[in-house]
Parts: sequence; structure tokens; C-alpha cells
Amino acid sequence: MHLILLSGPNLDLLGDREPGVYGRERLEDHVARAAATAESLGWTLEHHQSNHEGELVEAVHAARGRAAAVVVNAGALTHTSWSLHDALGAFDGVVVELHLSNPAAREPFRRTSVVAPVADGLVAGMGGLGYELSVIAAVRLVEARAAGPAVPGGRRNQVEEEV
Ligand code: DQA
Repeated sequence: MHLILLSGPNLDLLGDREPGVYGRERLEDHVARAAATAESLGWTLEHHQSNHEGELVEAVHAARGRAAAVVVNAGALTHTSWSLHDALGAFDGVVVELHLSNPAAREPFRRTSVVAPVADGLVAGMGGLGYELSVIAAVRLVEARAAGPAVPGGRRNQVEEEV
């Protein structure tokens, strides 16, 4: 099965950018770890980074029908992008929101995520370890769903409960 990892604005600067917050590792280091984790679980991983909202929206569209899961660190677009929200909402597979830092413990503007309402779950505040954890979470959730309908949590279950 196939998983798409999306990285939003300024994540291409990881390693140089605010190392006290985001660490010294570069994006390629995180992507390599995520890809190795996916491979160890028998999955393939494809990564896209963009500083442009529309390109990320298009990457989510391109995931439709091709990927079973999307792991997304949308950077600051997490807090603002309703177009990314809508694109992820139209994606049928598992969505995991990922952050290196813990936005809930930072400035007030980071405490709102417009990705969260269309995500199955969240991995945040774990630094680079989050890249492994989010891939494991996405894979396990896809597998659990394939095995049966009664999977706790996740946006699909919440929607079903509301109906
Ligand atoms: C981030 C958190 C966001 O608030 C911030 O804008 C980023 C990185 C993180 O990984 O911790 O660019 O998504």
C-alpha cells in the first residue's frame, strides 16, 4: 500500500530554521526515517514539499485513488488553509496531522488547526520521532479499517456517529 507524506511552507528550511523549536535535523532526514518506517511495514512512501498552498491542494487531489493514507505537516497552513481542509476532507483514506513541535503549547495563533477536523488523528510535539509515529499510526489505522468497521476514533467514525 501507498502513503503520501506532505510538507508545507518553510519545512524545507528545517535544520537551519529555529533549531531550538524544530531541531537540527533536515527535512530529508525526517523523510528518510518515515520512508524506512513505511518500508519496514511493507508500504511505499512518496513525499512532496511545497511552500505554495495550491500545490499542496493538488498533491492531495493526486493522492485520491492512489494512496491509502496521507500524513500531513502543513506548517503554518495548518492554522489558515480552508482549501487544504476541503481537499483533505475529499480524500477517502486515512489522514494523520503531524507537527514536530506541540502547537497547542505555543503562541495562540497556532492553537487552531483547520486540518484537525478532517484528520483521523494527530501526532505533535515528538520532534523527529513524530515522522515514524505518524507513519505507524496511518498504516495501523488503514489495516484496522480493512479488518472491520469498529475502529475507535477517527473522523469517519465521528461522522457516522453524528448521522
Ligand atoms: C509546525 C508547527 C506550525 O505551527 C509551524 O507554522 C510550522 C511547523 C511543526 O511541525 O511543529 O511551520 O507544523
